[in-house]
Amino acid sequence: MIPCQQIAAPMVRFSKLPFRHVVRSWGCELVYTPMIMAESFIASSRARDIEFTTNHHDRPVIVQFAAHDAMELSKAAALLAGKVDGVDINCGCPQRWAIKEGVGAALLKKPELVRDMVKMTRESSGLPVSIKIRTDPDLKETLRLTRLAEEVGVSFITLHGRTALSKPSDPVDFDAIRLVKEHLRVPLVANGDVKQLQDVYDIFNSTGADGAMAARGLLVNPAMFSGYDQTPTECVNDYVYSALQLGTRFEQIFHKTLEWMLCEVLNKSDRIHLNGCVSVSGVSHSLMQSVSLPCFRCPPSLLSLLPCASHSLFSPISPFLDSFLLVEEGWERKSKAERSPAGAAVLEGARV
Ligand SMILES: Cc1cc2nc3c(=O)[nH]c(=O)nc-3n(C[C@H](O)[C@H](O)[C@H](O)COP(=O)(O)O)c2cc1C
Repeated sequence: MIPCQQIAAPMVRFSKLPFRHVVRSWGCELVYTPMIMAESFIASSRARDIEFTTNHHDRPVIVQFAAHDAMELSKAAALLAGKVDGVDINCGCPQRWAIKEGVGAALLKKPELVRDMVKMTRESSGLPVSIKIRTDPDLKETLRLTRLAEEVGVSFITLHGRTALSKPSDPVDFDAIRLVKEHLRVPLVANGDVKQLQDVYDIFNSTGADGAMAARGLLVNPAMFSGYDQTPTECVNDYVYSALQLGTRFEQIFHKTLEWMLCEVLNKSDRIHLNGCVSVSGVSHSLMQSVSLPCFRCPPSLLSLLPCASHSLFSPISPFLDSFLLVEEGWERKSKAERSPAGAAVLEGARV
């Protein structure tokens, strides 16, 4: 199974259902959910509803879990058997809280635990299991980890070519990726600094990798895998519409995603204006002016989604169906720009 060649990385907050839909319709062949904590996923139905929504169009999709215990992980994965196309184990999150909890990059130092996680998760869920790792400064450690995972049937391995101590801006170690690829029997996905379509081909040539995964490159331009140099307006429109239709949180996700997508498209004053918006209608107005975004026109690629929207697997009614519009705030929280008479007219129009 897998890997596809053009892959959208797991991204906390960002790689939720609406974003997954958009990158998929703009050239991604495989998309990950954000990292989900296995412990809370098995403990609480509310956590399941919040962390994982999907619909019939959301395939192929890989769910990524963070866990410090093989039993916990295998239970979480079993809950999604038949609903996703694979389970990925996060062995790369370098944040201090993650290391302290024994998840993410802490697992790079526990290859036997990773081996047990892969084995038990495969058995409990019947799903393909992959691991997402970072390079170790001592590559022998990386090779030992990958060998143990291979012994118990890992389906493929994603290697981010930076160590757990690297900064996100540090260069990617493509030599290390090539070396690991040469030792692997299962497919390897290379991750790090894929910012345009050409990077995919360059990475294949320089490392022999079977797939290329992008994170920040797709945040900046979700149409990158289709060969676009900058986010096209249609793609912005697709995201706005997807978010409205499928549901998302305003401040942490919708607004921040648009900031990323438009960071190379907007001029400074348009960026300041967008950053000041605190409501959906404010953002809509701002984008209509700055990138000539049509007023929430339903893109053809989304028409077929309308009847199914997003759904939670665990509750009969998804709490997300309404959450997007619930975050529309009162006038007192609107930005200066939105309070201007011209802005007010558009806002009122948008509400009708
Ligand atoms: C906003 C953001 C959220 C991320 N969340 C996750 C995550 O949930 N799981 C994970 O394995 N990596 C996560 N990462 C790391 C990326 O998946 C990727 O490994 C890293 O950004 C390097 O790829 P890039 O150079 O294409 O950005 C995240 C990165 C960013 C920028």
